[in-house]
Amino acid sequence: MKYALIGCGMISPNHIKAALASDLEIVALCDLVEENRQKAFELIPEDKRSGIKLYSDHQEMLKEVKPELVAIALGSGLKRKLSIDCMRAGANVIVEKPIALSLEDADAMINTANELGLKLIINHQLRFGNTVRALKKESENGEFGKILHGTVQVRRNRNKAYFDAGKWRGTWAEDGGTLMNQCIHYTDLLQWVLGSEVSEVFAYTDRMTHPYIEAEDLGLAILKFKNGAYASIEGTVNVFPKNLSDSMAIFGDKGTVSLEGKTLDDVKAWNFESGPKGRDEAIKEYNIKDMGSGHIPLYRYAVDVINGNDDKICTASDARKALELILAIYKSAAEHRVIELPLNNCKTTDFTGRFD
Ligand SMILES: NC(=O)c1ccc[n+]([C@@H]2O[C@H](COP(=O)([O-])OP(=O)(O)OC[C@H]3O[C@@H](n4cnc5c(N)ncnc54)[C@H](O)[C@@H]3O)[C@@H](O)[C@H]2O)c1
Repeated sequence: MKYALIGCGMISPNHIKAALASDLEIVALCDLVEENRQKAFELIPEDKRSGIKLYSDHQEMLKEVKPELVAIALGSGLKRKLSIDCMRAGANVIVEKPIALSLEDADAMINTANELGLKLIINHQLRFGNTVRALKKESENGEFGKILHGTVQVRRNRNKAYFDAGKWRGTWAEDGGTLMNQCIHYTDLLQWVLGSEVSEVFAYTDRMTHPYIEAEDLGLAILKFKNGAYASIEGTVNVFPKNLSDSMAIFGDKGTVSLEGKTLDDVKAWNFESGPKGRDEAIKEYNIKDMGSGHIPLYRYAVDVINGNDDKICTASDARKALELILAIYKSAAEHRVIELPLNNCKTTDFTGRFD
């Protein structure tokens, strides 16, 4: 399958590794900055480099190399335009999370994929970890009994150098703050694992230690789900002096799971009235050995979906739900009130000037 990457920045090595591991034929790399596309090119083993073209203009690339699959790893404000350009040129797309920064943009992307019969896969790669898959299975099998509440903590440090490395970072038009950028994997997982949608949100957000960004560096939210469960989300990039481990826990009246680590593979508690067998069985079933950051199993999944398998694990409409939840949190914090979902229309730029 002919593959191209648009955006050769910080996350691009994960995409290149995953493309190589999935036996994709890398035909082009595209980035506005020559040094970045050259660096990405050098990550590809020499025996696989012949025939790869480097571009600064994605339209020119699409016209000349006609990729069947394009990955888009750019600032989030550009995702609608570039993904639709790729789909109109006949390519399936993998888009880095978040899907977009407005519900209207997400809908336009999903509708385009549906109209053209192409696949739009959003990079919510944590769904592919063995432990997370096992957790989802325990939940689907009803092993938690009644799910009572979930918690998520994303405690990171992002300094000025991180934000200076990309003009888009921390802006309302192209990124959002820590909830949209760092926490969206977990707002996605909470809804997926609980198997329910959020009905109400109340939240605080603030910009406490990063005066040079526009959006929040701290978010605290309480969620109520349609199935009666609750959840709390704590997301920050203010942790001194460096990241603590991410964590997520689910509490039911017949089960408790508490996980930590970059891909939530560090099990702190896995207690079920029915016993621990679910995790072992699920791990045997999925058996993902090269999880890394999660891009490799996500790419393999994308290839399978393009080849006709069901798109059940990582749908674009779920990615839209993860976006909608963050926007509802932003709205609640800005208006200082409980927000009910679904939202009509909302976008990050609705909050422009919030912390000024
Ligand atoms: N899945 C994950 O865990 C994960 C982790 C980090 C980042 N991300 C996401 O990946 C995306 C990119 O993040 P990053 O940290 O790599 O950003 P980055 O700023 O390091 O890289 C973006 C690259 O895109 C290039 N670019 C900008 N506009 C372009 C255009 N029109 N055409 C071609 N190239 C263009 C820039 O020159 C830059 O090299 C973001 O959406 C981010 O949220 C996801």
